[in-house]
Amino acid sequence: MLEVHDLHVRYGEIAATNGISLTVGDGEIVAVTGANGAGKSSTLNAVAGIVHPTSGSIRFDGQEMAACPSHECIRRGIVQVPEGRKIFGTLTVLENLQLGAYRLGSFQIDSAGVDEVLEQFPILADRLHVPASCLSGGQAQMLALARGLMAQPKLLLLDEPTLGLSPIAADDVFDLIRGLREIGLTILMVEQNVHQTLALADRAYVIEGGCVVLKGDARDVASASGLTSAYLGMADQSERISPSERSSPEEQEIIKTRTAENRDIFQNGNRI
Ligand SMILES: Nc1ncnc2c1ncn2[C@@H]1O[C@H](COP(=O)(O)OP(=O)(O)OP(=O)(O)O)[C@@H](O)[C@H]1O
Ligand SMILES: [Mg+2]
Repeated sequence: MLEVHDLHVRYGEIAATNGISLTVGDGEIVAVTGANGAGKSSTLNAVAGIVHPTSGSIRFDGQEMAACPSHECIRRGIVQVPEGRKIFGTLTVLENLQLGAYRLGSFQIDSAGVDEVLEQFPILADRLHVPASCLSGGQAQMLALARGLMAQPKLLLLDEPTLGLSPIAADDVFDLIRGLREIGLTILMVEQNVHQTLALADRAYVIEGGCVVLKGDARDVASASGLTSAYLGMADQSERISPSERSSPEEQEIIKTRTAENRDIFQNGNRI
């Protein structure tokens, strides 16, 4: 369904990805994990048309998408649930859901569509007319996921769906993603909750310094000896560009701090 080849994303001088290649097949859950600043969101944002790569190819259902704007990506069925949820706090839960149906060409209430999505989110069904700002973090994440499903995606992109959630709320999100697999949805997800993600996904890519440093069947990646070092930003791969080659001294300081933070996340689970 999705083939990303040699993807380069830059923000001015900063190279966020340095030649990422990955594939997602129909009905698969593919995970992208790795340290803070590794280039995970940049990869997802490029697939969603939110940033445009400087080079590389993104083929979706056989068509080149690298130059497509985000609204065109959504129209073709690539729907992203963004990092940080980005729900509209002053709108009600129902209004947020309706916005999700934009790709279908209407903001009108499609009660059948809403009801269908709400079957998987009973917690939201009771709170339809509440401003979204009143939801807990876990409920807000559920709303962000439900809003994404309102667009009837062919490929759902999830960027850190458990970020900032309590362990119980994170478990609920993982359960929900398991449920989405059962209905055959294709998912490309970025997550730092590495152990739970690898237990859930079919295949996984570990990114470090904008490069894929580990990939394969999720169970194999979970048991790979290089996982910890790759996650902590210390993978030894000759083909990757080291942080020192692509970064200014200021950036290198940031990377050092992040590596310490990442060690903590890796050992203790969820990031705050
Ligand atoms: N809008 C931007 N402008 C400049 N640099 C950016 C921008 N977005 C990301 N970057 C830089 O690009 C690199 C990759 O960032 P990206 O957000 O893709 O990483 P990530 O793996 O998603 O990190 P995190 O786990 O913190 O979400 C980082 O060095 C980051 O600082
Ligand atoms: Mg990110």
